[in-house]
Order: sequence, then structure tokens, then C-alpha cells
Amino acid sequence: MAGVQDRVIAVTGAGGGLGREYALLLARSGAKVVVNDLGGARDGSGSGTTMADAVVTEITEAGGQAVASYDSVTSEEGGAAVVRTALEAFGRIDGVVSNAGILRDVAFHKMTTQQWDAVLQVHLHGTYHVVRAAWPYFREQGHGRIVVATSNTGLYGNFGQANYGAAKLGMVGLINSLAIEGRKYNILANAIAPQAATRMTEDIAPAELLAKLPAAHVAPVVGHLLTDEFTDSGTVVVVGGGLCTRVQLFESKGITFADVPTIEQVGERWAEIVDMDGAVPAVNRVG
Ligand code: NAI
Repeated sequence: MAGVQDRVIAVTGAGGGLGREYALLLARSGAKVVVNDLGGARDGSGSGTTMADAVVTEITEAGGQAVASYDSVTSEEGGAAVVRTALEAFGRIDGVVSNAGILRDVAFHKMTTQQWDAVLQVHLHGTYHVVRAAWPYFREQGHGRIVVATSNTGLYGNFGQANYGAAKLGMVGLINSLAIEGRKYNILANAIAPQAATRMTEDIAPAELLAKLPAAHVAPVVGHLLTDEFTDSGTVVVVGGGLCTRVQLFESKGITFADVPTIEQVGERWAEIVDMDGAVPAVNRVG
């Protein structure tokens, strides 16, 4: 196989916004797509079949192959159902794009445990449930492609999005380990931080900025990360409006204390510890 031709790829949250663009492009490129979407509102309330159905219709009317899944990714059963849909319709599962998402934005001092949990459940736990269900098939066949949707909020923080940012960077932590565990099985796990005009961002970013960020710009990068030829794993790419960059951890040269320092000694040398002059890509020395 080459590219994404005949690969079976499940895209969660594909009933609108970025996920819809991914599904359409993947299908146009020869993939068989599971269009998963709970069909609810931006805050995760409600559900319905029309969003996923509309994208499946769009794909099949253009001559592509797709099947709908209305399952919520927030449960183990939901994640398993997404993968089962792929197996029943197309006989295999080759890739997962974990894209489903909701927002419950609120300043941290007003955040409720319910708002925290709801966002963690969809983004972080939802990614776990779908990827965990697909993983045995990926291992067995010696091929798997995982792309998760992280966010600049996870990488840099944003006012009112502590729940969302924690979930989004949690997803990067997840792919870092999956990249290690999956390597010998040709399972690649990567993350994109998209920037696009969708219902999620319509009242968050200024209209002039959003006009420069059509969701279609992001889809080819996601497509590339899903191809047979792709070999990188554990990378994070920021993609939007034509911009494509890699974000990576760097580590300062730092210092080494010969003996256990006092609090004061740490303070005296703090500027040297955090000085990023000559910083290098961070490597894990201690596990
Ligand atoms: P969107 O709101 O249009 O798409 C999210 C989709 O996920 C919706 O169609 C929704 O129905 C679905 N969904 C929500 N909960 C679900 C559940 N439990 N199970 C299955 N599907 C569910 O938003 P957009 O912008 O397309 O976002 C896609 C992904 O990209 C999200 O993970 C988002 O956090 C991320 N992202 C988007 C950015 C942007 O600039 N639009 C920026 C950074 C990240």
C-alpha cells in the first residue's frame, strides 16, 4: 500500500470543523473512513446522528468510502465501538485521528470539578479509549498510525482553559510513550496543534485572524502523518493558515551541584540554571 490508499482510518469528532476536513481529504486520497461524531454542542451537551451522517453522505456521493459512528469517545465501550465500526465495515483498522473535543472555558477560581472532568473525559480519556481499542490490531498487523489533536493552550497555556490545556498536554505525554512502545511494531504516534476557524474558535480568536485560518490547511499535514511512508514518531507540529512548524522541548546547559545545595545556593545559581543560551534538544537521562 502507499499513501493512505485503502487504509482504514477512524477520525473522532469528524462531523464538523477540522475532523470533517480530515475525513473528506482522507477519503479523497483513497482511505476508508470511520466518521465518528457524538453530534452534540460545543460544550459537549446533547447528541445526534446528523453531523456524522452528513459527512458520510458527502464522502460517498463523491465516490469515497465512509461509515458513521455516533459513539461518545468518553467510555471504554464508546472507544471499542469506534474500532468495531471500522472492523465491521472494512475488516481492519489502520489509523486513529483523535480529534473529538469540547470546551468548558472558565477562569480557574470558578472552575467546578464537573467542568474539569468533562473536558478531560473527551480529550484525554477519549483518546485513550479509542487508541487503546485499536492498539492490539496495530500490534498484530505491524502497522498503526495515531494522530492526536493537541493545542497551543496545552503547549503555552491560556486564560480560562486550565482543564483544556491540561488535557491537551496530557495527550502529548501519551504519544511520547506510545511512540516508544509502538516503534518496533511500526506504530507511529504524533500530535498536531491546529489553528483553524471552526465553531470551537469562532468567538475565541478575532475574525480577521480566523479568516486566514481555513480548516482545509490543516488536513494535508494530518494526512501525511497517516501515510505508509511516514516514519517519524513522537513529534508535535503546529499547523494553521499555511504555517507548519515543529515544537520540541529544549534543555538549558544548566549546572551540576557537586553536593546537596542549600536553598540559598540554588537561588544564587538560578539564573545559570534557567539560562537558555546554548540550549539543546532535551533528552531523557533518568527515565
Ligand atoms: P469542533 O467543535 O468543530 O469539532 C469537535 C467535534 O468533536 C465536534 O463535531 C463534536 O461533536 C465532536 N465531539 C465532541 N465530544 C465528542 C465525544 N464525546 N465523542 C465523539 N465526538 C465528540 O472543533 P474543531 O475546532 O474542529 O476541533 C477539533 C480538534 O482540534 C479538537 O480536539 C480541538 O480541541 C482541537 N483544536 C482546535 C483548534 C482550532 O483552532 N480550531 C486549536 C487547537 C486545538
